[in-house]
Amino acid sequence: MGLFQKKVSILYNIELGPVYYRLGLAFPELARVVKPGQFVMIRPSHASITLLRRPFSVHRLVVEEDKTLGIELLYKVVGQGTKAMSEMKAGDDIDVLGPLGNGFPCLEQANCVFLVAGGVGVAALYYLAFHLSKYQGVTQTVFLGGSSSSDILCEKEFQSLGIKIHVSTEDASVGEAGLVTSAVEKSLEAGERPDIIYACGPQAMMKAVGVIAGAYDIPCQVSLEAEMACGFGVCLGCAVKRAADEGGYFHVCIDGPVFDFRKVKI
Ligand SMILES: Cc1cc2nc3c(=O)[nH]c(=O)nc-3n(C[C@H](O)[C@H](O)[C@H](O)COP(=O)(O)OP(=O)(O)OC[C@H]3O[C@@H](n4cnc5c(N)ncnc54)[C@H](O)[C@@H]3O)c2cc1C
Ligand code: FES
Repeated sequence: MGLFQKKVSILYNIELGPVYYRLGLAFPELARVVKPGQFVMIRPSHASITLLRRPFSVHRLVVEEDKTLGIELLYKVVGQGTKAMSEMKAGDDIDVLGPLGNGFPCLEQANCVFLVAGGVGVAALYYLAFHLSKYQGVTQTVFLGGSSSSDILCEKEFQSLGIKIHVSTEDASVGEAGLVTSAVEKSLEAGERPDIIYACGPQAMMKAVGVIAGAYDIPCQVSLEAEMACGFGVCLGCAVKRAADEGGYFHVCIDGPVFDFRKVKI
């Protein structure tokens, strides 16, 4: 599969709320090969700063009148790099490297899956949901969780795919009060039985989802985050411990970012 690196034009950079943005990038050749769960490294450059590249999941493809124009990222402003990205405008050029990483394994025999997203973790899961709907006709339930209503993203997009949605917020501003993991547990207790659970979000959330899945003997794939300097296996900065019985380390950028929960120690 091809790996591309070039300066591409920003199609749009839309603010969704105080800290979330959708960034459209004109990159059709990458869009044609990227798989759900893969990511790109973006070098934010703005005014006087140019930083190391930062990793972002591909959120969806930008398609107009059946023509694939590029990819869209969904990102949260958390520091210098994402702040610089948020200040870029349509027509600006931005350096992009990708697609990188392994992507989500899509079980051929899966009829029913759970997708569990914490906050901006939904970025990676939406493209997976789209893929599973369009190409595999899989029945899906998505669990969207966040601290508050502003952290609940992409509800309409999941609705338009006909996917059942559970929303949970810690401050009870929308959906059920509490953690997204409680909603997952309730559904399993009620007898729902997905063939696989995919999770992306804060590490503690993914760990909790993995443990719950294990208790029901359901395979669970988690998309891990790590600070990354290169994105392709050279700097060794993104190490994550393998599960105790295996020992050693994986590197999130080349062995992941998606892992079988049982294989990693998080
Ligand atoms: C494979 C992968 C996919 C990702 N996909 C998305 C996505 O789709 N949307 C999105 O908003 N974010 C995503 N992230 C996280 C994103 O890369 C970081 O938020 C970004 O690099 C922060 O850059 P910054 O310069 O703004 O923050 P910095 O100034 O570098 O750091 C600000 C704070 O964020 C923490 N941080 C920085 N990088 C990461 C990281 N990679 N993981 C966890 N914490 C970090 C730092 O420890 C610090 O506390 C992804 C990360 C990985 C590894
Ligand atoms: S980010 Fe450099 S090895 Fe993974």
